[in-house]
Amino acid sequence: MRFEDKNVIITGGVGGIGQALVELFAREGARVLFADRSAEDCEDLVTRLHRLGLDAEFLNGDLRQKSHCEALVAEAADRLGGVDILLNNAGIIPRGTIVETNDDMWFSALDVNLTAAFFLCRAAIPLMREKGGAIVNTSSTWGVHPGPGHLAYCTSKAALAAMTRCLGRDHAPDGIRVNAVCPNEVDTPMLRSGFLRRGLNPDDAIAELGKTVPLGRVAQPAEIADVIAFLASDEARYICGECVEVTGAKPVYA
Ligand SMILES: NC(=O)c1ccc[n+]([C@@H]2O[C@H](COP(=O)([O-])OP(=O)(O)OC[C@H]3O[C@@H](n4cnc5c(N)ncnc54)[C@H](O)[C@@H]3O)[C@@H](O)[C@H]2O)c1
Repeated sequence: MRFEDKNVIITGGVGGIGQALVELFAREGARVLFADRSAEDCEDLVTRLHRLGLDAEFLNGDLRQKSHCEALVAEAADRLGGVDILLNNAGIIPRGTIVETNDDMWFSALDVNLTAAFFLCRAAIPLMREKGGAIVNTSSTWGVHPGPGHLAYCTSKAALAAMTRCLGRDHAPDGIRVNAVCPNEVDTPMLRSGFLRRGLNPDDAIAELGKTVPLGRVAQPAEIADVIAFLASDEARYICGECVEVTGAKPVYA
């Protein structure tokens, strides 16, 4: 019960890594407020949690809206009693080189992957100052070593990694640790949607992709959630301003 009495915000809560996070933090004693786009999907997740004997609150909305980001922190203060841990996990992956990237793809990537984290951190940090806290941003290996043909995604995740290091430095004296996790490929709807777009069977494609990973398989969402939970926990009390790569030893290829 590492997170007993901790108030936790999790964005992208109904996604692949998000569901693993919501379940892990609820199981380990946290009071969880998660967010995602669809109210119906959020309700389904709460129902699934109830079946497991767990509970969580949600606020659905669009992270591209500043008002939603700020409401999330205000609701956590109101409904949970504060914010101890903020997990900026939501993300989108527009695919394409610069000439294939239209304005909407560019601005959506920056709005969801970067600016939402900016709004959430700016609202949450003042609430964390009194007792200290932890923020974990989900960047990507492609934010540190850009992969091919994903200009908007790589740029937004690189900026999120840079923001993590800035915040880690600036708020360490406040007792607020800010870190990022940078996964390589993870078996979630985000990865599967790329295979579907290319007309591939996602199960087969993920099995094939696993052969390119020295550990022999693509990461499961819970394996990323475990690293995020470690970074948010007291076990990581001296880790601050870091971007931790989780790759199964697979480098990013050109
Ligand atoms: N899957 C991978 O291979 C991989 C690799 C590296 C990093 N990541 C990162 O991990 C994080 C989690 O991704 P995932 O793989 O679980 O993907 P996912 O698509 O399953 O989950 C992302 C979630 O974010 C939510 N979201 C997207 N836009 C939103 C918006 N405007 N407002 C509110 N919610 C919104 C989606 O509804 C979804 O539930 C992302 O930041 C992603 O970039 C994933």
